[in-house]
Amino acid sequence: MNTTTKSDTLATRTRAVLLAGVRGLALSLSVLPVAVLCFTLALVSMALIPIGIGLFTTPAILGAVRRFADVRRRLAAEWCGIGIPSAYRPIPADAKPWTRTYAMLRDPAVWRDLRWLQVDMTAGFVTALLPGLLLLYPLEGFLVAGLWGSLSGLDGYWYGFVHVTDQGSAFGAGALAAALLLLTPLAPRSLTVHFKLTRAVLGASQAELAERVRVLTETRRDAVDTSAAELRRIERDLHDGAQARLVAMGMDLGTVEMLLDKDPEKARQLLAQARQSSAEALTELRDLVRGIHPPVLAERGLGDAVRALALRLPLATEVSVELTGRADAPVESAAYFAVSELLTNAVKHSGADRIWVDVHHAEGMLRITVTDNGKGGAVAGAGSGLTGIERRLGTFDGVLAVSSPPGGPTMVTMEIPCALS
Ligand SMILES: Nc1ncnc2c1ncn2[C@@H]1O[C@H](COP(=O)(O)OP(=O)(O)OP(=O)(O)O)[C@@H](O)[C@H]1O
Ligand SMILES: [Mg+2]
Repeated sequence: MNTTTKSDTLATRTRAVLLAGVRGLALSLSVLPVAVLCFTLALVSMALIPIGIGLFTTPAILGAVRRFADVRRRLAAEWCGIGIPSAYRPIPADAKPWTRTYAMLRDPAVWRDLRWLQVDMTAGFVTALLPGLLLLYPLEGFLVAGLWGSLSGLDGYWYGFVHVTDQGSAFGAGALAAALLLLTPLAPRSLTVHFKLTRAVLGASQAELAERVRVLTETRRDAVDTSAAELRRIERDLHDGAQARLVAMGMDLGTVEMLLDKDPEKARQLLAQARQSSAEALTELRDLVRGIHPPVLAERGLGDAVRALALRLPLATEVSVELTGRADAPVESAAYFAVSELLTNAVKHSGADRIWVDVHHAEGMLRITVTDNGKGGAVAGAGSGLTGIERRLGTFDGVLAVSSPPGGPTMVTMEIPCALS
């Protein structure tokens, strides 16, 4: 029983050592070329920013560096259970090249990636290579001892400090290899050291994570505030609308009851009035329900719901939609109400005669632009509409960008990171 357990732990350990060796070897072989290439390209690209070319290449290269770093984060978690936090700032993907480049260069996480590349191609490479060496080097010693005599090239071979000149020294090499074999249990630890080093250089600092938490807490509070405000609006709409109509209808019907025998003509008039009130109450309730979650949005998705919105506008509106699936209901709903507000703004404030709406999804980002050819001058903060959209999108880490120079045109872009089903 005891021997079985012992051999089990030995087998597990051997497997762990072999696995660490193979993983370390594969990692070190990929680390060096990729890290050197990424770092060189990033430097060259940033040097080319002043002449313009770098504006286009830098975001792409820094994006590739980020993906390289993310792969290492994943491996650290899967192989050694080490979590490496990341805190990149979201960047609107279809912003102008200069804006994108500038935003990336201002992100401390991007500079940390570049520092990490330098560590990764030196100390990182060595710590990743070590587990492989711990396995391969003893193997070499055994091969020297075993193949001495059959391979002529081995005469005068140096294995560590052993100079192999005859069968005796070849066995010496074998003995050294056997001694070195005792060090192989260090292989998994060396791999762990590699990822701990990676975490030390690449991991987001406590301050940044705290800042991220602060932003999330704030947007969550905004979301709660927004839904409380939404509830108050619904309450108000019900109170001033449908409830008032029903009260009026009740009073009309009461009077009808009294007048039925005395003045049938007047009673008929009041009945017609009550019927009218009931129809109005019904319309208001329908509008209210549509305002909470429009049926067309639930049934046909964002694209059709936006088209339906556009159809109701008094201006010529062109809608183009490129969606391969459906986003989550809360995202769809936020996007729908945001578009609805932007269209209302365009009709109310812009004096435009045309509106264009573009809805598409690419690279994990839902992107919506609403453009009008009106007089421009839109600013978030002047009313509650645009700030409300910012808050709504903030809940999903989405962003709103308004470009509206005096004289127009106005182009409002929204981006929400999300996946389509
Ligand atoms: N498409 C547009 N063209 C020109 N000006 C605009 C446009 N959209 C918004 N604006 C300007 O920006 C301001 C802010 O818009 P916002 O939607 O935040 O507030 P609002 O529409 O005035 O009020 P609310 O939306 O709260 O009813 C508006 O008052 C208007 O002057
Ligand atoms: Mg508005």
